[in-house]
Amino acid sequence: MTKKFYVTTPIYYPNDIPHIGHAYTTLAADVLARWNKLNGKDVFFLTGTDEHGKKIENVAKENGKKPKEFVDELIPKFKEAWKKLNINYDYFIRTTDLEHEKVVKEILQKIYDKGDIYLGQYEGYYCTACEAYYTEKDLINGCCPIHKRKIELLREESYFFKLSKYKKKLLDFYEKNKDFILPKNRRKEIINRVKEGLNDLSISRTSFDWGIKLPFDKKHIAYVWADALTNYYSATRINGKEKYWPADVHLIGKDIIWFHTVYWPAILMSAEIKLPKTVFAHGWWTFNNEKISKSHGKVINVDELISIAGVDSARYFLFRNTVFGEDGDFSEQALIDRHNNELANKLGNLVSRVSSLIEKNGIKKCENRLLKQLKLREIEKLFENYEFDKVLNEIFGFVDVCNEYVQDKKPWESGDKKVLYELADSIKAIAILFWSFMPSTSDKIAKQFGFKIEFDGIKKPLNEKNKIIKGEILFKKI
Ligand code: MSP
Repeated sequence: MTKKFYVTTPIYYPNDIPHIGHAYTTLAADVLARWNKLNGKDVFFLTGTDEHGKKIENVAKENGKKPKEFVDELIPKFKEAWKKLNINYDYFIRTTDLEHEKVVKEILQKIYDKGDIYLGQYEGYYCTACEAYYTEKDLINGCCPIHKRKIELLREESYFFKLSKYKKKLLDFYEKNKDFILPKNRRKEIINRVKEGLNDLSISRTSFDWGIKLPFDKKHIAYVWADALTNYYSATRINGKEKYWPADVHLIGKDIIWFHTVYWPAILMSAEIKLPKTVFAHGWWTFNNEKISKSHGKVINVDELISIAGVDSARYFLFRNTVFGEDGDFSEQALIDRHNNELANKLGNLVSRVSSLIEKNGIKKCENRLLKQLKLREIEKLFENYEFDKVLNEIFGFVDVCNEYVQDKKPWESGDKKVLYELADSIKAIAILFWSFMPSTSDKIAKQFGFKIEFDGIKKPLNEKNKIIKGEILFKKI
């Protein structure tokens, strides 16, 4: 039976067009989805938008629109951006989808019937930009620790989820499932915080109405996170995708790890639904070492990102330049340098030199001794550990091996068909391995050398009858 693989991205607030931060997680999910597809798995890749809540209600109002009308205009921008970046998701969920709303209500009702939800009074701080509750000690000079803006003091009737009741169960779960929270350093942070104790979670609001009504009290709107987190599960209940639950990995940014590793598993435990296997939190991108922020004009939206050096170079750069899981600094120059020095000079040159020499001289099948230097097992392990920068480093190491071989054997002098065969066969392996990161470059190489992008093709010898042509330049220097 084919193994399934279910990967998700956070669902984004459609309060503006998508930027590099949103693109990063969605690209990472695309890389994982492609890699697992290549490995023969039955993949389900989910992304979407988080459309309810006060924050969306507010921006819609500022734009003189009804919330639904406002988000309806932005959703195509997300879909277009993912298409431009060559992101191949399987399903796009919107929290305003009726099927999703139905599942949210069903879960809340179940938890309520069980006695895990009670009516109380919420008194405390709330940051609408984060859509998150804060306590006095979280604040910095009376402001939200993330947005540094003045924070609202809320006092309203609210339903509470008995989160405190799940403290021990959560700690036991983390203990038994060492890969539930990744990277490891984040795991320790969460465990320590949970050990300090958990407050019950306010899961409804009454002071606005853009959201899902609680099934047991229509005056109350579900807290946007209780609504949003459920998307991962509800998407599998739409179109008969049940077989994909539980998720194999929820990819998220480090800022929303608490919601995903504490609230989400506790809600699932209470609703008696299986828990996801892994939540992986990546780091944050800064822009020339400053926080990416709209108010400071330091946002790189998707079109800007692509315009610097093209789609594949951007995809390559984001995973090559920083460790997935740690913060990274984005600079246009660093992207251009990698594009020129690595993709154009090394990869592009290798492919163009070898293909044009083959056009002239042809190839003769023989054992490819170069392949012994390709560490495929190592690459597979690195992928499993989400070490994308090291995966790329390994593949590039093999590109270097091939370039050295060209220098060493001088096939432009000898016209040696066997050497050219070894190089063409190695380029096949390189293209297949790069496909998850740079799909259109790999597809171009595959077409040029006449092979298919398939995992077995890495080791399966290239057919010497293939017509190999000198194609277009893969990466133009900038
Ligand atoms: N709607 C919630 C998620 C709900 S998931 C059930 C949300 N949306 S968001 O649009 O504000 O952010 C989505 C993701 O983008 C987060 O994972 C966040 O970490 C990521 N990023 C936003 N800015 C970022 C950077 N500058 N760098 C990297 N990722 C960043 O939160």
